[in-house]
Amino acid sequence: MTLQNVLSWILQAQQEGWAVGAFNANTLEQAQAIVAAAQEEEAPVIIQVSHRALTYIGSDNEIQGLKYIAAIGKIAAESVTVPVALHLDHGTEREVLQAIALGFTSVMFDGDGYSFEENILVTKRLCEVAHSVGVCMEAEVGEVPKPDGKELDKTTIALTQPDEAAQFVEATGLDTLAVALGSVHGLKTKQISLDLECLAAIRSSVSNPLVLHGSSGVSDSDIKQGIAMGLCKVNVATQLNQAFTGAIRNVLNRDSEIVDPRKYLAAGRNAQIEIVRERIRFFGAFRKAW
Ligand code: G3H
Ligand code: 13P
Ligand code: ZN
Repeated sequence: MTLQNVLSWILQAQQEGWAVGAFNANTLEQAQAIVAAAQEEEAPVIIQVSHRALTYIGSDNEIQGLKYIAAIGKIAAESVTVPVALHLDHGTEREVLQAIALGFTSVMFDGDGYSFEENILVTKRLCEVAHSVGVCMEAEVGEVPKPDGKELDKTTIALTQPDEAAQFVEATGLDTLAVALGSVHGLKTKQISLDLECLAAIRSSVSNPLVLHGSSGVSDSDIKQGIAMGLCKVNVATQLNQAFTGAIRNVLNRDSEIVDPRKYLAAGRNAQIEIVRERIRFFGAFRKAW
């Protein structure tokens, strides 16, 4: 299939109490694994690529990275019969505009570092562009930190305030809202409990679909409850990287003579297919493609 706008499934997921999995790719093999897993599970899926992944793929030129990914995403989607969306994850304003021009079907503007008012202004502007060409727009209120290995005081995380969320949605016209419920990006163990009271309060003041970032560090029971309470796009990155890299490490540890990258990258790709399949089932998206 050609790349699809993801919004209709997210809305369906919201109504039916499941979530669309949004899986980060940093390499060709990871993108291939995401669509292969979705095909096996007969699920709609989102391939997403972060600002830092673009920078890596484009060898420090994120626009070049976007061009590579736009081509790879298109071919990956055409290789399967389930619906696939290509999403820019945590993009800057410039990247969002470029991604839309290159055929991404979904984009997220990350207003981290912007004031609430500036975040509204930029998001509104980008929404108008996205909607003029049928692209789904996500933005965030509150903070899902990206500590990147640094020490983090979890008590200081700025959760999404329900009144600000309502004001933000109303003022910007966005499609999906990323909310901060206490999760943190990049954690290697499931150690976080979500603030589900905060989620319930947001849910009662905002009707748009809500997005969970940083799911790798969140307990599965809270993800499950969060989905039942209205989270209907769940982002996963670190758990995939753990599976991908772990499998490669095993192959290389077992055989120090290997020089052909296909021998270890294939193991990473297979391991990532399994973890994406597991997450799709866990999110309740099995057989939701048709
Ligand atoms: O939210 C972003 C994902 O966790 C990917 O992180 O910036 O390391 O690509 P990254
Ligand atoms: P994790 O790396 O913690 O799974 O976060 C994924 C994410 O939020 C991507 O936007
Ligand atoms: Zn994120």
